[in-house]
Amino acid sequence: MPYTIPAEKISEIKYASDILEIISESVVLKKSGRNYLGLCPFHSEKTPSFTVTPDKQMFYCFGCGEGGNVFTFIMKQEGLTFPEAVRFLAGRCRITIPEYSKGVVSENQINERDILLQINQQAMTVYHDMLIKSDDGAGARSYLERRGIPANILTGFKIGYAPPDWGRLTQYFSRLGTALNLVEKAGLIVRRSSGNGYYDRFRDRVIFPIFNSRHQVIAFGGRVMDTSLPKYLNSPETPVYSKSKSLYGFDIARSFCRQAGEVFVAEGYMDLLSLHLHGIQNSTATLGTAMTEEHIRLLKGICDKIILVFDSDQAGIKAAQRCTELFRLHHQPGDIRILVLPEGEDPDTYLQKYGSAAFRKAAADAYGVFSFLVDIAIQKHGLSLEGKLRVIQEMEAPLSSLSDAVVRSSVIREISERTGIDESAIQEKYRPAIHSRSTSKPLDTRTSDDHLRFEKRLIAMMLQFSEIIPEVIERKLIETLSDPLLKSIAMDIVACFDRMKQFSEHMDDLPSLLVMETDQIEKKKIIAEYSIQREEWRREGCLKLMDQYAAMQKRRRVRLLQQKIKAAEESHDDRLLQQLLKDFQMVTCPQEAGDYGKTVR
Ligand code: GTP
Ligand code: MN
Repeated sequence: MPYTIPAEKISEIKYASDILEIISESVVLKKSGRNYLGLCPFHSEKTPSFTVTPDKQMFYCFGCGEGGNVFTFIMKQEGLTFPEAVRFLAGRCRITIPEYSKGVVSENQINERDILLQINQQAMTVYHDMLIKSDDGAGARSYLERRGIPANILTGFKIGYAPPDWGRLTQYFSRLGTALNLVEKAGLIVRRSSGNGYYDRFRDRVIFPIFNSRHQVIAFGGRVMDTSLPKYLNSPETPVYSKSKSLYGFDIARSFCRQAGEVFVAEGYMDLLSLHLHGIQNSTATLGTAMTEEHIRLLKGICDKIILVFDSDQAGIKAAQRCTELFRLHHQPGDIRILVLPEGEDPDTYLQKYGSAAFRKAAADAYGVFSFLVDIAIQKHGLSLEGKLRVIQEMEAPLSSLSDAVVRSSVIREISERTGIDESAIQEKYRPAIHSRSTSKPLDTRTSDDHLRFEKRLIAMMLQFSEIIPEVIERKLIETLSDPLLKSIAMDIVACFDRMKQFSEHMDDLPSLLVMETDQIEKKKIIAEYSIQREEWRREGCLKLMDQYAAMQKRRRVRLLQQKIKAAEESHDDRLLQQLLKDFQMVTCPQEAGDYGKTVR
């Protein structure tokens, strides 16, 4: 195994970490029979298909196929490697893991991530102290004061200041004995293009540390205090930072969002601080990028309603169009609203001028993505007859991204209401576009392959009813599986079964243990899926299934041999023909195969 955390530690941690409790922290789950159901945090959906089975300590999403045990969940949710996830959970349940053993590749990688995070943490402290305590920070302190940011926000968000010198941070780490190439990798210093050495990336800027959801510093943003450019400078992408997956202030906002059931997404650092300051703490901000699929996924795991806040129609339109593109990818659009503030205001200036009550009121009236686009189109084209037709035309593209008939017809109804044009006339107009969408959808390539279905059932049976495994081995069924992936999973199951038997472990843990030991993601998903789709297996049913499978395998071999025999006959390949006929006899009536030579010749 590629990690060096002792196996007994891993299972200790697994037993101490209840999957239901852990997933419930970020996904709203409802009990449904022996399972719990919720909206999948790993893809956008409106109808819950994310299933947690406490009995098996596993999860599986029938929508996107993600699945596994508590470690898999944490890896996916937090973007961690397996050993990191183990450590993460160990920390939660206060189990100590012996120190790293040196020299293993994956351990080096963990070390590097840990080191980068540590470097960021140190830099954050340097910058923060500089702002709060030093003479150098006086200018920045008064800048922030002018912008209305009080001391509690400065400390809560660990805001800092980078002095104008080119080498302050470089010297700090140099004196500390930190390898400068790692500080460079963290994005804090830049290698000089001429000669050697480094210089500080952030100079004479207010510094905003960016945290992940575990409150670790992953990157920084820096703002100038005058009109020079660029106004904002951000850390580059690093092994610990990806801006398309990160949201400023989200670590702090999470619990507020869960409580409120909705989240505001602003565009800037200062906007986010201002929202907080005005008591709208269920807020976060993107980091100079448009909203990504990953952002939406992250937010959807916490609350149902997302309100995107913009300072101009143009920005709002762009975002709304982007959202319709995301809807094209995910069949169920979520409740995403677009709030455009009055001309010239961003959340920060708006809140300062009008206060939080006005903001909340405006937010309550914010349009959903489609209504917003209809509104914009009406503003643009007016409501003359020609204008109305243009509006309908303009909505054609966004509407074609909606595969959900109910949502689509509600949008069409709205267009009808607002333009006064008959609903059925609009339907008629869109028909070709909607039609072309449904025909251009990729064909479902999964043929109704009985055979594969049988093999899948066998695997599910082995996972859910492990007492049948000895019988499967006895009948040598695994050797005959034709799907290579399923076959390899079956072999893993048997290996795991043998090992568990040796240590007399409880066989109910088999699927979970297997998921944990499997490196290949494809396999992990299949194991999780088949373990969770629980049906009541009985011994007789299993035996019958195996009989049917064996019979089907036999028919298949016979058919295959018949084809080969025919081909050998046509090509007059006598030697091959003899061999094939012998095989044929062996399959169809094995007890007579020995006499073959005498009877046929
Ligand atoms: P203030 O001017 O301080 O109120 O900031 P703002 O958030 O109102 O600024 P603006 O609306 O211009 O920008 C919104 C967000 O876009 C910022 O918070 C940054 O994340 C990003 N951004 C703005 N200007 C730049 C820039 O010059 N470079 C980069 N990389 N990002 C920028
Ligand atoms: Mn601003």
